[in-house]
Amino acid sequence: MKRSLLQLLTSLFFFGCVWNLSAAPDPEIEARVGKLLSKMTLEEKIGQLCQMNFEGRITDDLAKRIRNGEVGSFLNAGNLDAKNALQRIAVRESRLGIPLIYGRDVIHGYRTVFPIPIGQSCSWNPDLIEKASRVAATEAASDGIHWTFAPMVDIARDPRWGRIAEGCGEDPFLTSSLAAAMVRGFQGRRLSDADAVAACAKHYVGYGAAEGGRDYNTTWIPERLLRDVYLPSFHAAVDAGAATLMSAFNNLNGVPASGNAFTLRQVLRKELGFDGFVVSDWASIQEMINHGTCADEAEAAKKGLEGGVDMEMVTDCYRNHLANLVREGKIPESLVDESVKNVLRVKFRKGLFERPFTDAAKGKTLLAAGHLALAKQLATQGLVLLKNEKNALPLSPTGGKVAVIGPLADSPADQLGCWVMDGRPEDAVTPLAAIRSLLGKDNVLFAQGLRTSRDEDRSGFAEAVRAAESADAVILFLGEEAAITGEAKSRAFIGLPGRQEELAAEVEKTGKPVVLVVMAGRPLTFDAAAEPASSVLYAWHPGTMAGPAIADMLFGKAQPTGKLTVSFPRTVGQLPVYYNFMNTGRPVNPETWIVPSIFDQSKYIDVDYRPQYPFGFGLSYTTFRYDRLTLSSPEFGLDGSITVSATVTNTGKRAGEEIVQLYIRDLAASVTRPVKELKGFKRVSLDPGESRTVEFILKASDLAFWNDRMEFKAEPGRFHVWVAPNSAEGLKGEFSLTE
Ligand code: BGC
Repeated sequence: MKRSLLQLLTSLFFFGCVWNLSAAPDPEIEARVGKLLSKMTLEEKIGQLCQMNFEGRITDDLAKRIRNGEVGSFLNAGNLDAKNALQRIAVRESRLGIPLIYGRDVIHGYRTVFPIPIGQSCSWNPDLIEKASRVAATEAASDGIHWTFAPMVDIARDPRWGRIAEGCGEDPFLTSSLAAAMVRGFQGRRLSDADAVAACAKHYVGYGAAEGGRDYNTTWIPERLLRDVYLPSFHAAVDAGAATLMSAFNNLNGVPASGNAFTLRQVLRKELGFDGFVVSDWASIQEMINHGTCADEAEAAKKGLEGGVDMEMVTDCYRNHLANLVREGKIPESLVDESVKNVLRVKFRKGLFERPFTDAAKGKTLLAAGHLALAKQLATQGLVLLKNEKNALPLSPTGGKVAVIGPLADSPADQLGCWVMDGRPEDAVTPLAAIRSLLGKDNVLFAQGLRTSRDEDRSGFAEAVRAAESADAVILFLGEEAAITGEAKSRAFIGLPGRQEELAAEVEKTGKPVVLVVMAGRPLTFDAAAEPASSVLYAWHPGTMAGPAIADMLFGKAQPTGKLTVSFPRTVGQLPVYYNFMNTGRPVNPETWIVPSIFDQSKYIDVDYRPQYPFGFGLSYTTFRYDRLTLSSPEFGLDGSITVSATVTNTGKRAGEEIVQLYIRDLAASVTRPVKELKGFKRVSLDPGESRTVEFILKASDLAFWNDRMEFKAEPGRFHVWVAPNSAEGLKGEFSLTE
């Protein structure tokens, strides 16, 4: 894309960042794009903007379409033979030989399945997540996939929304860091490498703010909130070089996101300088008719293209109407050209013209030992210990018999989670299998209790109770089965489904120590089961290696280090609940909120205003003390920085790792600012008794936000700063930013 100097300066001014060099236009590629475009008919151009879902058979009709240059891309293009066969038609039999680009949802692994993204995010470990994405890309690329519809970088503050499973939680700073890591991992050293897949940051934008947590629902997001909270993760993905973006399903402030020139042309192209291509979500161009902004498919095609969506996924509005719209003068051909250039640019960058086919004999690395080891490591780091009374965990591997109970203890498909297109249950090691292999089969009693998480049949309870009674400790695996998480799986009640609470109560009545392991795609309200349990481990859906990761953790071969990336509500009535809220004019007083007669506080009279577990929270098998908060200076200027440090000491008896978090609050600004904002995090490993000083550098530009004039700037004034184990605690200091 050609950018004027003014645009470049504007972007630098707005974002205070160095321009993303990885996206700089390559003159050689631009020349090839231009040359190819000049040879294309209008129909061939439009073909590049059409993506089809492969239905499993190469019919004569389909072959003809490809031969005519009427298809630019497939999603789900079948096995490697099918992919190579389709590509052969495109490359060898079409007039210009333009290769197809194959997309697929490789969301959290390919054959080796990593934890669902929300689980990965709880590791707060960009390096490890980058490696996992690299593995996913390597496996997918070896099966002929060029492009993954990931990372999903939507901010989600509402666990009713099933797709909270697919993102990195509620925080823009953390999500940005992990989004960039995923993009780097998928795309590797060079996008043109055979083992790289093009990333697709989605769903642009605001999709996670669906009203009521109901999937596909309308979103109303004021521009400042959009820019402060929902856009930064896309910005980070673009800066990391994401080749493509996907436009979202939602109606954003009255204009569908898949026909939204403000977000796609103004923000994405002009301000962020994105020069890859934008694909619509599945049928989201056509769905503008349902939204009520387009009368028919022709208008949907017009508004989609004008809005800035380059490629239409699955539906045929572009295919059937763009040519006429151009011929009738309703849209200029130059607009089509622009989108075609975006698509071709990515195809050239991906090296598809040089290497359109994937060699079946080469590079099949599925489920390599190193991949499984990494899957176990990430699964381990994604586990979050929420409760551990009297250090009930870790259990001793020689502590007698264990009863493993619950519908998720031995459910390989469920532990893989949502959006698993290519992972297989038979590759998965379940917690039951792993615990049996750790303790020996004879030391493990197993009773499902319920067949699935939603099962209403109590007939298995008696056996579960018998198992508990005969054991020295119980490990109870409850949660959600994969099928009720992810896309279109919004829930109005987010408790443990089915009869699981009753099963927990029956088992807990035996008086045996109960360790509760929750496997779920969203934060659940599960206190009735958690309260009597001695320990609670929140596992999300940890993927292929869930079993070994969980077993090692429960029996002390691994240490819990995960921290929540989303606030857990006490009840759905609190939603949305998130840590970085605004203070209000009548903020709650933690000392007196409980007094019902005090009416001038922003609280509930029937439930604690705080979340059940706050953002950033997670326990360890050891304990950490934070002290000696030190600021390098009490103030600094707009071009300066400050070093904030604190000493963290391992005060327990085991070695451990702590994720130390940095938060700030801008106390008085031109617009209201959140009560806390994450600005940094660091992982420290400490032996028992060991202390370490953890340092963060906070630059003035880190304090910037979209001000009352919609400029991205830091404002002088007083700030609070915390070095903290989570968003609700920590050592607090103060500094000033001066003119
Ligand atoms: C989802 C996308 C996904 C696409 C293609 C849609 O329903 O919203 O996230 O990438 O399907 O499978």
